[in-house]
Amino acid sequence: MNPTPKPGILEISPYVGGRASVPGVAKVFKLSSNESSLGPSPAALAAIDQAKASIALYPEGSAALLRQAIAEFHKLDPARIVTSGDGSDALLTMLANAYLQPGDEAIFSQHAFLVYKIATLANSARPVIVPEKNTNQAIKVDVDAMLAAVTPKTRMVYIANPNNPTGSYLTRDEMAKLHAGLPRHVLLVIDAAYSEYVTAKDYEAGIEMVSAFDNVVMTRTFSKMYGLAGLRIGWMYAPAAICDTINRIRGPFNTALLQQLAGIAALKDREHFWRSVEHNNKWLPWITAEIRKLGLRVDDSAANFVLIHFPQGEKNAAAADAFLNKGGIILRSVASYGLPDCLRMTVGTEEQNRLAVTLLQQFMAA
Ligand SMILES: Cc1ncc(COP(=O)(O)O)c(C=O)c1O
Repeated sequence: MNPTPKPGILEISPYVGGRASVPGVAKVFKLSSNESSLGPSPAALAAIDQAKASIALYPEGSAALLRQAIAEFHKLDPARIVTSGDGSDALLTMLANAYLQPGDEAIFSQHAFLVYKIATLANSARPVIVPEKNTNQAIKVDVDAMLAAVTPKTRMVYIANPNNPTGSYLTRDEMAKLHAGLPRHVLLVIDAAYSEYVTAKDYEAGIEMVSAFDNVVMTRTFSKMYGLAGLRIGWMYAPAAICDTINRIRGPFNTALLQQLAGIAALKDREHFWRSVEHNNKWLPWITAEIRKLGLRVDDSAANFVLIHFPQGEKNAAAADAFLNKGGIILRSVASYGLPDCLRMTVGTEEQNRLAVTLLQQFMAA
């Protein structure tokens, strides 16, 4: 008999990222993967240059300097941080590897980030997918429904806050209610990949909750606001026992020297960070308002992207996608997230945003 993977693995649909090219179109703008349109800090690029001299050597295995820098900036205990050189994706996966056994259940919402399902199935556990609330201008996680889905088999709950691809977020109080309704042995994983973009006063990224409880983890990334998606740096803040667990199973040198040094430099460049914040604060509302003027539903977003709804019929999402592609703009089809009538658009540069809106105007008017 041939080698057979663990039960669940062959049920996984491999993750397909946002497209980066369009056949026959030479110049395209990629607004399909929620990357930063301002790119990385020049200081991060300089750090990468410096790191080249030491590349023959293994890096320090615990990423101590990067953890120290993260800890100082966020006022955390560095011993309660674990970094990853394969993005926060790898941390979300390692948490499932560590805490899910065959037959266990992991709960997440209907339009949640796809990695949760992959990580759950990879551990022969059962994904429990909970419907979200769809109101006029937002599709949002339903905390009561999430809690109603808890069974004696539940071991993990994943929440992206804000969520991708809906852009909605749960408030501090909603997160507190969710946590309060979970048994203490259930691990609540707060995926705060987009937390740097949130301006709402009633939002809390997860630091307070991790500090207060033994069953909460927060994951973060340098891929979004810090403009380093290609470098794949993620980190998590977690109770000591959970860090100890993940440190036992992670790769011994799982955060490369380039990643450690670039991450530190990116964190320290607050000017670049605030430029990126301001850019989003200017263009997210502009995109939302301009596309709504075309009669399309655009959901309120707390992140660096918007979810655009298209009608059935000839102005549908697939037709819009094809039209935009021809004009050099690539958005993200989100059919794999259960949203076949929507496209997700990342906030781009001024030129990209204006072109996308102009093309959508032309598409709707045609
Ligand atoms: C909600 C969410 N979590 C995590 C990630 C993964 O980020 P990273 O690049 O750190 O693996 C993404 C990336 O798109 C995301 O949308």
